[in-house]
Amino acid sequence: MTIASIMFAGLFYLAAVLFAGGLAYRIKDYARTPAPLKIPTTPAPATNGGVVLRMAREVFFFESLFKSNLWTWGFGWLFHMGLVLVLMRHLRYFTDPVWSWVAFIQPFGIYAGLAMLLGLSGLWARRFFVDRVRYISTPSDHLMLALLIVIAASGLFMKFISHTDVIGVKNFFIGLMHFNGQPLPADVILFLHLLMVALLMIIFPFSKLLHAPGVFFWPSRNQADNSRDKRHLSAWAAQLESKK
Ligand code: HEM
Repeated sequence: MTIASIMFAGLFYLAAVLFAGGLAYRIKDYARTPAPLKIPTTPAPATNGGVVLRMAREVFFFESLFKSNLWTWGFGWLFHMGLVLVLMRHLRYFTDPVWSWVAFIQPFGIYAGLAMLLGLSGLWARRFFVDRVRYISTPSDHLMLALLIVIAASGLFMKFISHTDVIGVKNFFIGLMHFNGQPLPADVILFLHLLMVALLMIIFPFSKLLHAPGVFFWPSRNQADNSRDKRHLSAWAAQLESKK
């Protein structure tokens, strides 16, 4: 085991704990936050089934963004769909034997990496070239995009230009999952890729990227428009009423 392997092993254990713990904490916080008013944006579905369908359209197609800005929607959708496929493709590093559907999507995953980079570049360009967006962009907006771009670019670099020892990478991560230390291939681009991934995992629960689970707690989209049929009473208000 080299020093680098030991440091990366420690870093990934730390990142995994902060990612899972931080995410659980933040989701619990969202779930506890009161939604005292009925505020579905109309036209809105009147039934729970309709709400599920509406949320599915938001999650898979980004419906509201589509209606508000086609350019942002196009780049954003490209990036996110690419990301999902890339992450699914990466499951081969954590499963042995590799699940058949993961093996099946491998070739598509490569195009997804390119789509992801194109989407990210468009989203970043928008922060420079659209005046009103540049005005409201903070350093963290730029840093998140830069972080994701470095991850995607270093991944694609390993895929297309300077190959890394993917079997060695897999042994290292399967080893981590079984608390059995294995060496990590010594490769600068791989180190960069993994360092940025660990950083992403650590800041994820405390950054704007939290919109991923946050989308499900969007009151104007996740409420049924049934205020005339059913009284809206949140759990904490019901408790107050029962004390009267
Ligand atoms: C611990 C987690 C990760 C490991 C071990 C890992 C490892 C790798 C390796 C070894 C490659 C080169 C693939 C090849 O040569 O065939 C790669 C490619 C890539 N990685 Fe990662 N990566 C991780 C997480 C991520 C994350 C979180 C993202 C996105 C945010 C990402 C984005 C990419 C992209 C876009 C590519 C190029 C396309 C592809 O081969 O799928 N990686 N990664």
